[in-house]
Amino acid sequence: MSPNWQPADGEERADSRLRILLLGASGFVGGGLWTYLAPRHEVVGTFASRPVPGLVRLDLRDERRLAALAADGFDLVVHAAGLVPLEAAEADPALAHRLNVRPVEVLLDAVRGSGAKLVLLSSDNVFDGTRDHYEEADPRSPVNVYGRTKVAAEDLLLAEGGHLVVRIPLVFGRGPWANTFLARLAGPTTVARTDLVCAPVYLPSLGPALARLWHRTGVVHYGGTDVVTRFELMRRVRQALDLPTRVVAAQGEGGRPPGAGPACRRPARLVLRSTRHRLLGPDLDSALAHLAGPNA
Ligand SMILES: NC(=O)c1ccc[n+]([C@@H]2O[C@H](COP(=O)([O-])OP(=O)(O)OC[C@H]3O[C@@H](n4cnc5c(N)ncnc54)[C@H](OP(=O)(O)O)[C@@H]3O)[C@@H](O)[C@H]2O)c1
Repeated sequence: MSPNWQPADGEERADSRLRILLLGASGFVGGGLWTYLAPRHEVVGTFASRPVPGLVRLDLRDERRLAALAADGFDLVVHAAGLVPLEAAEADPALAHRLNVRPVEVLLDAVRGSGAKLVLLSSDNVFDGTRDHYEEADPRSPVNVYGRTKVAAEDLLLAEGGHLVVRIPLVFGRGPWANTFLARLAGPTTVARTDLVCAPVYLPSLGPALARLWHRTGVVHYGGTDVVTRFELMRRVRQALDLPTRVVAAQGEGGRPPGAGPACRRPARLVLRSTRHRLLGPDLDSALAHLAGPNA
Protein backbone atom coordinates (compact mmCIF):
# COMPACT_ATOMS: atom_id res chain seq x y z
CA MET A 1 0.00 0.00 0.00
CA SER A 2 1.41 3.33 -0.96
CA PRO A 3 -0.94 6.02 0.28
CA ASN A 4 -0.73 9.51 -1.00
CA TRP A 5 -2.72 11.19 1.80
CA GLN A 6 -3.49 13.96 -0.62
CA PRO A 7 -7.15 13.94 -1.68
CA ALA A 8 -7.87 15.77 -4.92
CA ASP A 9 -9.58 18.86 -3.59
CA GLY A 10 -8.12 21.67 -5.61
CA GLU A 11 -5.49 22.57 -3.00
CA GLU A 12 -2.66 21.25 -5.17
CA ARG A 13 0.24 23.70 -5.35
CA ALA A 14 3.67 23.21 -6.78
CA ASP A 15 5.97 24.68 -4.15
CA SER A 16 9.56 25.16 -5.13
CA ARG A 17 12.20 23.97 -2.70
CA LEU A 18 11.80 26.11 0.40
CA ARG A 19 14.18 26.85 3.23
CA ILE A 20 12.32 25.80 6.38
CA LEU A 21 13.10 26.04 10.09
CA LEU A 22 11.24 23.26 11.92
CA LEU A 23 11.17 23.96 15.66
CA GLY A 24 10.48 20.80 17.65
CA ALA A 25 11.60 18.34 14.97
CA SER A 26 12.60 15.89 17.72
CA GLY A 27 9.01 15.68 18.95
CA PHE A 28 6.18 13.41 17.89
CA VAL A 29 4.45 15.83 15.52
CA GLY A 30 7.71 17.52 14.51
CA GLY A 31 9.21 14.13 13.68
CA GLY A 32 6.30 13.32 11.40
CA LEU A 33 6.67 16.69 9.69
CA TRP A 34 10.43 16.16 9.36
CA THR A 35 9.89 12.82 7.60
CA TYR A 36 7.76 14.49 4.97
CA LEU A 37 9.54 17.83 4.63
CA ALA A 38 13.24 16.96 4.83
CA PRO A 39 13.42 15.07 1.50
CA ARG A 40 11.50 17.82 -0.32
CA HIS A 41 12.88 21.04 1.12
CA GLU A 42 15.96 22.43 2.80
CA VAL A 43 15.01 21.91 6.44
CA VAL A 44 16.82 22.85 9.62
CA GLY A 45 15.20 21.00 12.52
CA THR A 46 15.68 21.50 16.25
CA PHE A 47 15.73 19.37 19.39
CA ALA A 48 16.00 20.37 23.05
CA SER A 49 16.39 17.38 25.39
CA ARG A 50 16.19 14.43 22.97
CA PRO A 51 19.18 14.61 20.60
CA VAL A 52 18.52 13.37 17.09
CA PRO A 53 21.34 13.14 14.52
CA GLY A 54 20.99 15.88 11.91
CA LEU A 55 18.98 18.22 14.14
CA VAL A 56 20.41 21.28 15.91
CA ARG A 57 20.07 21.90 19.63
CA LEU A 58 17.87 24.81 20.70
CA ASP A 59 16.24 25.77 23.97
CA LEU A 60 13.29 28.07 23.34
CA ARG A 61 14.26 29.97 26.49
CA ASP A 62 17.56 30.99 24.91
CA GLU A 63 15.90 33.97 23.26
CA ARG A 64 19.01 35.36 21.62
CA ARG A 65 19.75 32.03 19.92
CA LEU A 66 16.10 31.51 18.97
CA ALA A 67 15.97 34.97 17.36
CA ALA A 68 19.29 34.51 15.54
CA LEU A 69 18.22 31.13 14.16
CA ALA A 70 14.80 32.37 13.05
CA ALA A 71 16.35 35.38 11.29
CA ASP A 72 18.67 33.18 9.24
CA GLY A 73 16.89 33.59 5.90
CA PHE A 74 14.11 30.99 6.09
CA ASP A 75 11.02 31.07 3.89
CA LEU A 76 8.99 29.31 6.59
CA VAL A 77 9.36 28.84 10.32
CA VAL A 78 7.18 25.91 11.38
CA HIS A 79 6.74 26.05 15.15
CA ALA A 80 6.00 22.61 16.65
CA ALA A 81 7.96 23.00 19.87
CA GLY A 82 6.77 23.65 23.39
CA LEU A 83 5.24 22.15 26.50
CA VAL A 84 2.58 19.74 25.27
CA PRO A 85 1.49 17.30 28.01
CA LEU A 86 -1.67 18.88 29.44
CA GLU A 87 -0.91 17.83 33.02
CA ALA A 88 2.58 19.36 32.83
CA ALA A 89 1.14 22.67 31.68
CA GLU A 90 -1.52 22.54 34.40
CA ALA A 91 1.13 21.88 37.05
CA ASP A 92 3.34 24.81 35.99
CA PRO A 93 1.44 27.59 34.20
CA ALA A 94 4.47 29.90 34.28
CA LEU A 95 6.62 27.33 32.47
CA ALA A 96 3.79 26.66 30.02
CA HIS A 97 3.66 30.37 29.22
CA ARG A 98 7.43 30.57 28.93
CA LEU A 99 7.56 27.67 26.46
CA ASN A 100 4.30 28.10 24.56
CA VAL A 101 3.73 31.85 24.40
CA ARG A 102 6.90 33.88 24.88
CA PRO A 103 8.84 32.15 22.04
CA VAL A 104 6.16 33.28 19.58
CA GLU A 105 6.83 36.89 20.54
CA VAL A 106 10.55 36.35 20.02
CA LEU A 107 9.95 34.67 16.67
CA LEU A 108 7.67 37.45 15.44
CA ASP A 109 10.26 40.08 16.34
CA ALA A 110 12.97 38.03 14.62
CA VAL A 111 11.18 37.52 11.30
CA ARG A 112 9.41 40.88 11.05
CA GLY A 113 10.12 42.48 7.69
CA SER A 114 12.16 39.51 6.48
CA GLY A 115 9.47 37.88 4.35
CA ALA A 116 9.60 34.70 6.43
CA LYS A 117 6.23 33.25 7.37
CA LEU A 118 5.57 31.76 10.77
CA VAL A 119 3.36 28.65 10.90
CA LEU A 120 2.19 27.89 14.43
CA LEU A 121 0.92 24.43 15.31
CA SER A 122 -2.04 25.05 17.61
CA SER A 123 -4.60 22.76 19.12
CA ASP A 124 -8.29 21.93 19.38
CA ASN A 125 -7.83 22.56 23.12
CA VAL A 126 -8.48 26.25 22.42
CA PHE A 127 -12.15 25.19 22.44
CA ASP A 128 -14.29 24.08 25.39
CA GLY A 129 -15.72 20.94 23.79
CA THR A 130 -19.40 21.85 24.19
CA ARG A 131 -20.24 22.07 20.47
CA ASP A 132 -20.79 19.34 17.90
CA HIS A 133 -17.77 20.60 15.94
CA TYR A 134 -15.61 23.69 15.62
CA GLU A 135 -14.84 25.83 12.58
CA GLU A 136 -12.09 28.41 12.32
CA ALA A 137 -14.18 31.44 13.30
CA ASP A 138 -15.85 29.82 16.31
CA PRO A 139 -15.14 31.53 19.64
CA ARG A 140 -12.31 30.01 21.66
CA SER A 141 -12.86 29.20 25.29
CA PRO A 142 -10.09 27.00 26.70
CA VAL A 143 -10.72 24.98 29.86
CA ASN A 144 -7.11 24.20 30.79
CA VAL A 145 -3.74 25.95 31.04
CA TYR A 146 -2.39 24.33 27.87
CA GLY A 147 -5.37 25.62 25.88
CA ARG A 148 -4.96 29.09 27.34
CA THR A 149 -1.31 29.23 26.30
CA LYS A 150 -2.31 28.19 22.79
CA VAL A 151 -4.91 30.98 22.64
CA ALA A 152 -2.32 33.51 23.81
CA ALA A 153 0.20 32.31 21.22
CA GLU A 154 -2.42 32.43 18.47
CA ASP A 155 -3.39 35.98 19.44
CA LEU A 156 0.19 37.18 19.13
CA LEU A 157 0.54 35.66 15.70
CA LEU A 158 -2.84 36.80 14.41
CA ALA A 159 -2.32 40.37 15.61
CA GLU A 160 0.72 40.60 13.36
CA GLY A 161 -0.94 39.44 10.12
CA GLY A 162 0.66 37.49 7.28
CA HIS A 163 1.32 34.37 9.38
CA LEU A 164 -0.62 31.13 9.85
CA VAL A 165 -2.12 29.20 12.75
CA VAL A 166 -2.86 25.53 11.98
CA ARG A 167 -5.10 23.95 14.62
CA ILE A 168 -4.81 20.19 14.79
CA PRO A 169 -6.59 17.60 16.95
CA LEU A 170 -5.18 14.55 18.71
CA VAL A 171 -2.52 13.00 16.46
CA PHE A 172 -2.00 9.24 16.32
CA GLY A 173 0.59 7.09 14.60
CA ARG A 174 4.25 6.15 14.83
CA GLY A 175 6.84 8.93 14.96
CA PRO A 176 10.34 8.47 13.53
CA TRP A 177 11.89 8.97 16.98
CA ALA A 178 9.43 10.34 19.57
CA ASN A 179 6.50 8.01 20.10
CA THR A 180 4.31 9.69 22.66
CA PHE A 181 1.16 8.20 21.17
CA LEU A 182 2.19 4.53 20.97
CA ALA A 183 3.90 4.80 24.36
CA ARG A 184 0.39 4.75 25.84
CA LEU A 185 0.04 1.21 24.52
CA ALA A 186 3.44 0.01 25.70
CA GLY A 187 2.39 -1.39 29.11
CA PRO A 188 0.17 -4.34 30.01
CA THR A 189 -2.86 -2.05 30.40
CA THR A 190 -3.83 1.43 29.34
CA VAL A 191 -6.80 3.44 30.51
CA ALA A 192 -8.78 5.29 27.84
CA ARG A 193 -11.83 7.46 28.26
CA THR A 194 -15.22 6.71 26.80
CA ASP A 195 -16.46 10.23 27.59
CA LEU A 196 -13.91 12.09 25.44
CA VAL A 197 -14.73 12.34 21.75
CA CYS A 198 -12.22 13.35 19.09
CA ALA A 199 -11.61 13.34 15.35
CA PRO A 200 -7.92 12.40 15.38
CA VAL A 201 -5.50 12.79 12.49
CA TYR A 202 -2.93 10.26 11.37
CA LEU A 203 0.64 11.54 11.70
CA PRO A 204 1.87 10.81 8.13
CA SER A 205 -0.98 12.89 6.72
CA LEU A 206 0.12 16.04 8.56
CA GLY A 207 3.13 16.95 6.39
CA PRO A 208 1.28 16.79 3.07
CA ALA A 209 -1.67 18.67 4.56
CA LEU A 210 0.55 21.37 5.99
CA ALA A 211 2.33 21.80 2.66
CA ARG A 212 -1.02 22.39 1.01
CA LEU A 213 -2.18 24.90 3.57
CA TRP A 214 0.91 26.93 4.38
CA HIS A 215 0.36 29.47 1.61
CA ARG A 216 -2.66 30.69 3.56
CA THR A 217 -2.76 33.21 6.41
CA GLY A 218 -4.92 33.49 9.52
CA VAL A 219 -6.33 30.29 11.02
CA VAL A 220 -6.96 26.93 9.38
CA HIS A 221 -8.21 23.69 10.89
CA TYR A 222 -7.00 20.26 9.86
CA GLY A 223 -9.23 17.58 11.33
CA GLY A 224 -9.64 13.83 11.03
CA THR A 225 -12.47 12.20 9.10
CA ASP A 226 -13.82 9.83 11.75
CA VAL A 227 -15.30 10.87 15.07
CA VAL A 228 -14.51 8.38 17.85
CA THR A 229 -14.11 8.18 21.61
CA ARG A 230 -10.58 8.01 23.01
CA PHE A 231 -11.36 4.47 24.13
CA GLU A 232 -12.45 3.44 20.66
CA LEU A 233 -9.33 4.94 19.10
CA MET A 234 -6.98 3.13 21.48
CA ARG A 235 -8.92 -0.13 21.09
CA ARG A 236 -8.74 0.09 17.30
CA VAL A 237 -5.02 0.91 17.29
CA ARG A 238 -4.31 -1.94 19.72
CA GLN A 239 -6.27 -4.30 17.52
CA ALA A 240 -4.60 -3.13 14.28
CA LEU A 241 -1.12 -3.61 15.75
CA ASP A 242 -2.10 -6.83 17.54
CA LEU A 243 -0.62 -5.56 20.80
CA PRO A 244 -1.03 -7.47 24.07
CA THR A 245 -2.05 -4.29 25.94
CA ARG A 246 -5.47 -4.34 27.58
CA VAL A 247 -7.37 -1.12 26.91
CA VAL A 248 -9.50 -0.33 29.97
CA ALA A 249 -12.53 1.92 29.56
CA ALA A 250 -12.85 4.79 32.01
CA GLN A 251 -14.94 7.90 32.52
CA GLY A 252 -13.72 11.14 34.02
CA GLU A 253 -10.39 11.26 35.78
CA GLY A 254 -11.19 8.11 37.78
CA GLY A 255 -8.96 5.83 35.76
CA ARG A 256 -5.80 7.88 36.13
CA PRO A 257 -2.80 5.91 37.32
CA PRO A 258 -1.32 6.83 40.72
CA GLY A 259 1.36 9.53 40.49
CA ALA A 260 0.03 10.86 37.18
CA GLY A 261 0.22 14.47 38.41
CA PRO A 262 -2.56 17.01 38.81
CA ALA A 263 -5.80 16.34 37.01
CA CYS A 264 -6.58 18.60 34.12
CA ARG A 265 -9.95 19.47 32.60
CA ARG A 266 -10.33 18.15 29.09
CA PRO A 267 -12.97 19.30 26.61
CA ALA A 268 -15.54 16.51 26.12
CA ARG A 269 -15.92 16.68 22.35
CA LEU A 270 -13.33 18.11 19.99
CA VAL A 271 -14.06 17.84 16.29
CA LEU A 272 -12.26 20.26 13.98
CA ARG A 273 -13.87 21.17 10.68
CA SER A 274 -12.91 23.85 8.15
CA THR A 275 -14.84 26.46 6.21
CA ARG A 276 -11.64 27.37 4.32
CA HIS A 277 -10.73 24.10 2.58
CA ARG A 278 -11.93 20.53 2.14
CA LEU A 279 -8.88 18.66 3.41
CA LEU A 280 -9.47 16.04 6.07
CA GLY A 281 -7.16 13.37 7.42
CA PRO A 282 -7.53 9.79 6.16
CA ASP A 283 -10.34 7.67 7.57
CA LEU A 284 -9.47 5.42 10.47
CA ASP A 285 -9.58 2.17 8.48
CA SER A 286 -7.03 3.42 5.90
CA ALA A 287 -4.81 4.97 8.56
CA LEU A 288 -4.78 1.82 10.69
CA ALA A 289 -4.09 -0.39 7.68
CA HIS A 290 -1.09 1.83 6.92
CA LEU A 291 0.05 1.89 10.55
CA ALA A 292 0.01 -1.90 10.67
CA GLY A 293 1.78 -2.23 7.33
CA PRO A 294 5.47 -2.32 6.42
CA ASN A 295 5.74 1.34 5.36
CA ALA A 296 4.45 3.02 8.52
N1 LIG B 1 0.47 15.43 19.73
C1 LIG B 1 -0.77 15.88 19.52
O1 LIG B 1 -1.74 15.08 19.54
C2 LIG B 1 -1.01 17.35 19.27
C3 LIG B 1 -2.34 17.78 19.11
C4 LIG B 1 -2.59 19.12 18.86
C5 LIG B 1 -1.54 20.00 18.76
N2 LIG B 1 -0.27 19.58 18.93
C6 LIG B 1 0.82 20.57 18.82
O2 LIG B 1 1.89 20.05 18.04
C7 LIG B 1 3.12 20.56 18.55
C8 LIG B 1 4.06 19.38 18.86
O3 LIG B 1 3.44 18.49 19.78
P1 LIG B 1 4.03 17.03 20.04
O4 LIG B 1 2.91 16.15 20.37
O5 LIG B 1 4.96 16.68 18.95
O6 LIG B 1 4.85 17.25 21.39
P2 LIG B 1 6.24 16.57 21.84
O7 LIG B 1 6.41 15.21 21.27
O8 LIG B 1 6.30 16.75 23.32
O9 LIG B 1 7.33 17.51 21.17
C9 LIG B 1 7.60 18.78 21.69
C10 LIG B 1 8.78 19.36 20.97
O10 LIG B 1 9.11 20.60 21.62
C11 LIG B 1 10.47 20.55 21.99
N3 LIG B 1 10.70 21.30 23.21
C12 LIG B 1 10.20 21.08 24.45
N4 LIG B 1 10.72 21.95 25.32
C13 LIG B 1 11.58 22.73 24.61
C14 LIG B 1 12.43 23.81 24.95
N5 LIG B 1 12.52 24.27 26.20
N6 LIG B 1 13.15 24.37 23.98
C15 LIG B 1 13.09 23.91 22.70
N7 LIG B 1 12.30 22.91 22.31
C16 LIG B 1 11.56 22.32 23.28
C17 LIG B 1 10.79 19.08 22.22
O11 LIG B 1 12.19 18.87 22.14
P3 LIG B 1 12.88 17.62 22.92
O12 LIG B 1 11.91 16.50 22.81
O13 LIG B 1 14.15 17.40 22.17
O14 LIG B 1 13.08 18.08 24.31
C18 LIG B 1 10.02 18.49 21.06
O15 LIG B 1 10.77 18.61 19.88
C19 LIG B 1 2.78 21.40 19.78
O16 LIG B 1 2.68 22.74 19.37
C20 LIG B 1 1.41 20.90 20.17
O17 LIG B 1 0.67 21.87 20.85
C21 LIG B 1 0.03 18.26 19.18
